[in-house]
Amino acid sequence: MNTLLDKLSAFPRVRLAHLPTAVEPLDRLRAHLGAAPRLWIKRDDCTGLGLGGNKVRKLEFVMAEALAQGADAVVSGGVVQSNHIRQTAAAAAKLGLECHLAVMTGRVPKVDPDYNDTGNILLDRLFGAHCVMLDWKADRNAVIASLIDGLKARGRKPYMVPYGASSALGAMGFVLAAIELLDQARALGTRFTHVVHASGSAGTQAGLAVGLAALAPHVELLGLDIDAEPERVERDVMRVAHEAAAMLDVSLHDRSIAVVPGYAGTGYGLPTDGMLEAVKLGARLEGLVLDPVYAGKGFAGFIDLVRQGRFGKDDNVVFWHTGGAPALFAYRSLFS
Ligand SMILES: Cc1ncc(COP(=O)(O)O)c(C=O)c1O
Repeated sequence: MNTLLDKLSAFPRVRLAHLPTAVEPLDRLRAHLGAAPRLWIKRDDCTGLGLGGNKVRKLEFVMAEALAQGADAVVSGGVVQSNHIRQTAAAAAKLGLECHLAVMTGRVPKVDPDYNDTGNILLDRLFGAHCVMLDWKADRNAVIASLIDGLKARGRKPYMVPYGASSALGAMGFVLAAIELLDQARALGTRFTHVVHASGSAGTQAGLAVGLAALAPHVELLGLDIDAEPERVERDVMRVAHEAAAMLDVSLHDRSIAVVPGYAGTGYGLPTDGMLEAVKLGARLEGLVLDPVYAGKGFAGFIDLVRQGRFGKDDNVVFWHTGGAPALFAYRSLFS
């Protein structure tokens, strides 16, 4: 383990997250489901900065690179209810960097009337980010390029934060997270057998895959597609994981990467019955806040896999809560 930590310490890191996040048993959910395996949750919804979530771990490495390059502004993009751009805006505020965001509207049809002003986007603005709104179908890379050019023309030094902070560098945050989970397993005297989470822009799964392949290849990692694009997600996880593995000199094994389809429903951000049930069960049985787009669909998949008997009685299965609570408020009519 030390050698992997040594290799990770070669990459500059700026501390932004409250770590380690808690890992807790889900005993009331387990009893409700009559589940044989022990169920756990890893609370990355509580990484702290700007209401937390999984991106803060990746931003510790990505923002450190921005600072090392002398950047005084960051540029990124995402949809209106992107948790990534909210956490990027919070990190930029904390580090004293200007933040410019290409914010895409219209990806999710038929949403609440205040969808474009509440939840994550309200927080982006509160953190002082400059938001340029554009249609989902517009050329977002061209918009980001023009934001970068505009900043350069004003004599600023912009740094582009990749979508979802899902570069190999960002994935280092989740290699560290895998080490954190294994430390917690040791302290609890438990051997985790499976990790299940919502996967989208790939950095979370790629980092966990590399960390687990290096240190605990017995742990099965299941990334659940929430984009309704499982092949694209798997390709991205493969690419980012292989790049990150090469940077750390880790060998991936053939079971390292599994993207599970079937829980996204008809499209990104569109509700499913499983998600609605999962968000309510998480809230009422465990006091959890799950969002309708990512963690809620991930939790629905986790519950479904337990019900299907996918895990054995001696298994210890971890649901990795990746955050996203602010988006819940932009979908309030689903729950009222
Ligand atoms: C709450 C939440 N969960 C999961 C994910 C997926 O993580 P990744 O993009 O690293 O695959 C995201 C990405 O935006 C997210 O916001």
